[in-house]
Order: sequence, then structure tokens, then C-alpha cells
Amino acid sequence: MMTHTDPQSDWGLPGWTYDNDRFFREEQDRIFRPSWQIVCHLNDIPKAGDFHTLDYIGESVVVVRGKDGGVRAFTNVCRHRGARLLDGPAGHCGKGGGRIVCPYHAWTYDLEGRLIGVPMRETYPALEMDKQGLVKVEVEVWRGFVFVRLEGDGPSVAEMMAPYEHEVAHYRFEDLQPFGRVTLRPRTVNWKNISDNYSDGLHIPVAHPGLTRLFGKGYGVEAAPWVDKMWGQLIDEPSNNPSERIYQGILPDVPHLPADRKRLWTYFKLWPNF
Ligand code: FES
Repeated sequence: MMTHTDPQSDWGLPGWTYDNDRFFREEQDRIFRPSWQIVCHLNDIPKAGDFHTLDYIGESVVVVRGKDGGVRAFTNVCRHRGARLLDGPAGHCGKGGGRIVCPYHAWTYDLEGRLIGVPMRETYPALEMDKQGLVKVEVEVWRGFVFVRLEGDGPSVAEMMAPYEHEVAHYRFEDLQPFGRVTLRPRTVNWKNISDNYSDGLHIPVAHPGLTRLFGKGYGVEAAPWVDKMWGQLIDEPSNNPSERIYQGILPDVPHLPADRKRLWTYFKLWPNF
């Protein structure tokens, strides 16, 4: 079997990089820990004590709305014996009255992550409570979306999105309101398969005939350093396919969008996987 050592000599990454535990561990350390990951939208956590969690690459992160209206992120891990503090993808730290109470031995934290309660406090004479707050995780709110980053000092989401800021601004992401719960459908595929697919317009006419009928041959792909943009203009002529005709019919007129965006399908893929 022939092997390629020059990355330019082939059309893609070697196949083994899509199915190799050691390589994936490297990707977790070098790509996912230093990259921004989306957790929720500010309007998913409107009230003090509302939270959303994100479990990924062996970490659990929780984003919490504070009493001051601010949003903070912590590792979802108690500083006592490491129990998971908040369960499930989302909820409200209501039981503790705006506090986070560990379900194991009831160590209690405020919404800023400070340790404020330890049952049988006198039995921990050496405990310095002000040093045992929840471990903070970096947060960025970009146009209403809440992102977290475990480590690193690369560009912010705003910096990465800057080349398309003037396009994105029209859509008023900040005003989005949750419409229903987000359903995740885990797949046993490597993350690069999914990520590659979102930057690939060549498969559209082959694998998505419906989309091709809706958008004709005008499906475009463009790459900026951190963001890929995809777009297509909806064809006006009614489709022969009933469900596509319904789609054409129910696509709402969005008054605040400029005319050339009203029938535009467009999306942006942010490095590495959003
Ligand atoms: S592990 Fe949380 S209080 Fe003990």
C-alpha cells in the first residue's frame, strides 16, 4: 500500500486521523481545550440561578446567570470530593435559593462561585473557604451566544467573526428567544467528518437534491481564516415537490432584513466545530 508523507500530495488528511484514539487525545488538547465552544444563548438563562451545562472532552462546564445579571462559567465539579454539582443540560439552582448546593455533602456556593457554606465547618479547621471557590472557566458572549474556553489565549469569537460581522449584524442574534428544547443527536463519527461536511459545497447537488432544487446551482462557499461562509439564493419558481413548495411558502418575510437577504440561505461555520 502506498503511503503519503507530504500533506500536499493528497486531497485530504490520512484516513487514520479520523479513527485513532491517540490522535483524538491530541486534538482534544490542542484543538478543543483552546477553542471556544457554545453552551447556550443568554435568553436560555434569563433569570438569576438559571444554568446550562456542556459536557465535552471529559469536562463538564456550567454557565450560570448571576444575581447581577452577569454570566459566569465554572467547572461543574465540587471542590470537596469532586461530585457533579448540577445535573442535566439545563435548569435552575432553585433548591438552594439562588445558590449551588452540592448533592453529596451540601457544600454550598453562591452564583459567583464563592464557597459560602460547609456543613460541620468546625471539623475542617484548616479550610480556607475563600480559596475553595468553583474553578472559573473563561466566557465570551458574542451576539447573545455564550461561549466557553477551557484554556489558551487565541482570538476571541468576535475577532474570528469580524470578517462577516457586517453580514451577521442584520440577523439580530441577540434577540433570539428559545422556541423549544435543543435536541442533540450524537453520532459515532469523528468530529472532522461533520466539520468538513459543513464547509463542503460539492456534495450538495449529489446528496441534497431537494436543496439543489430550492437553491439552483448558486450554492457558494467562501473561507476566511477562522470562518467559512455558505450561501444560496432561494429560487422563486414553485418547486414540483410538495414539501419543498411548503418550505417556499412558509419562509417568513423578515422585515428588518435587507431585500437581498430575505430569500437568502446562509450560514457560517466557526473554527473548529460550530
Ligand atoms: S463532594 Fe460536594 S460536598 Fe462533598
